[in-house]
Amino acid sequence: MKLWGGRFEKDTDKLLEEFNASIDVDGRMYEQDIKGSIAHAMTLHKAGVLSEEELKRIIEGLNGILNDIKEGKVEFTRENEDIHMNIEALLTDRIGEAGKKLHTARSRNDQVAVDLKLYMRDEIKDILRLLRSLVNTLLNIAEDNVDTLMPGYTHLQRAQPVTLAHHLVAYCCMFLRDMGRLEDCVKRMNVSPLGSGALAGTTYNLDRGYTAQLLGFDGVTLNSLDSVSDRDHAIEFLSAASIIMMHLSRFCEELILWNSKEFGFVEIDDSFATGSSMMPQKKNPDAAELIRGKTGRVYGDLITLLTLMKGLPLAYNKDMQEDKEAVFDGIDTIKACVKVFDGMMKAIKFNKENMRNSAKNGYMNATDMADYLVRKGMSFREAHEIAGKVVKKAIEQRCALEDLDIDILRSFSDKFEEDIYDALDLDKGVHSRAVIGGPAKEMVQMAIKRIKNAVLRV
Ligand code: ARG
Repeated sequence: MKLWGGRFEKDTDKLLEEFNASIDVDGRMYEQDIKGSIAHAMTLHKAGVLSEEELKRIIEGLNGILNDIKEGKVEFTRENEDIHMNIEALLTDRIGEAGKKLHTARSRNDQVAVDLKLYMRDEIKDILRLLRSLVNTLLNIAEDNVDTLMPGYTHLQRAQPVTLAHHLVAYCCMFLRDMGRLEDCVKRMNVSPLGSGALAGTTYNLDRGYTAQLLGFDGVTLNSLDSVSDRDHAIEFLSAASIIMMHLSRFCEELILWNSKEFGFVEIDDSFATGSSMMPQKKNPDAAELIRGKTGRVYGDLITLLTLMKGLPLAYNKDMQEDKEAVFDGIDTIKACVKVFDGMMKAIKFNKENMRNSAKNGYMNATDMADYLVRKGMSFREAHEIAGKVVKKAIEQRCALEDLDIDILRSFSDKFEEDIYDALDLDKGVHSRAVIGGPAKEMVQMAIKRIKNAVLRV
């Protein structure tokens, strides 16, 4: 008979039993479910509901079940619907009467709320660890490349020269914000819903603060209806996860371009590339493409949850059982993607010569020419026009700005003197952009240092 079978005369139709069961999805929260149950049992004991002996048997029973699950000795059943009832049934099987008292002053509604929070809290910590590792990988590459010139782009057109380090630090800034968002999410989520019962609390005198403390929560929720029907934390997590995936996806898009013969800026290592079954010459950036593709999945998870919640009256509704599949998929996807991306970056090779050549060939020092004229007393608008005309000339002559003779330059403006060639030097141009946040070596080094410190604190 079902744990809730008292008022029923007929058995559940097999169709509904299959349809209703969530154990295949929520089974992975067994550890959190057991932890939550132990804390609840201790609180029941404190409230005088369980005797010392009953508490002892419950805790021993639950720990035994935990061990057996870890050792693969337990088979969950769909008949017992979800992880909560599976574990309760196992406990009662093993310890008898005392097991039947565990669910006093509790509902699966506050139980599932606490399980999911505990589960997400652990997983978010793990995701933060993975992101920290990725940022470290990127910063290590950046440290070695503060002088590696490459084109900076707008509209995917070569715009102004930057360095590889500068480009990588841009992504580190994104990942740092991502880490902050995940931390915020944990901070807001970390209040205990246990004691809220099905929706309206409980008549038992539960010390909710005690339960919260046992489970490492910072406090307790303030409204029982909200406690059991709130999934904001899951939505916040999936939105943070979506943003992380968006960042990874942009980076992947760049790597895919850079890995093409047309760019030739990077070579993805053999160990992170794949071949074609038909074209023997191919080496494809599948890892980067898959991460870009999986971004859509995580967005989907977020939309699933937002849509799931939008029409639900207070408080718990069974629709909410669907939340976990989306959250778990988001967690699994993001962990896999960050790990693979980190591995790919650790092994990637940068073709610095191609990057530098590309930086040299795009008239990217045209702004520096205009700035030079401004320094000689011209307005920026006029300088912009003259530099534009010089670029046109250089294109006609198929040469770089710095390859034009001084006489030719002077035919555009008599403000040009020999020191213009210094001003057009690409390396000097990059390293003189020494405003905070700029690509100049010292500034990038400072940014690297700050990000390192910030990441250590997360
Ligand atoms: N398996 C359910 C879920 O994940 C647990 C809560 C069920 N509560 C209920 N009253 N049916 O949402």
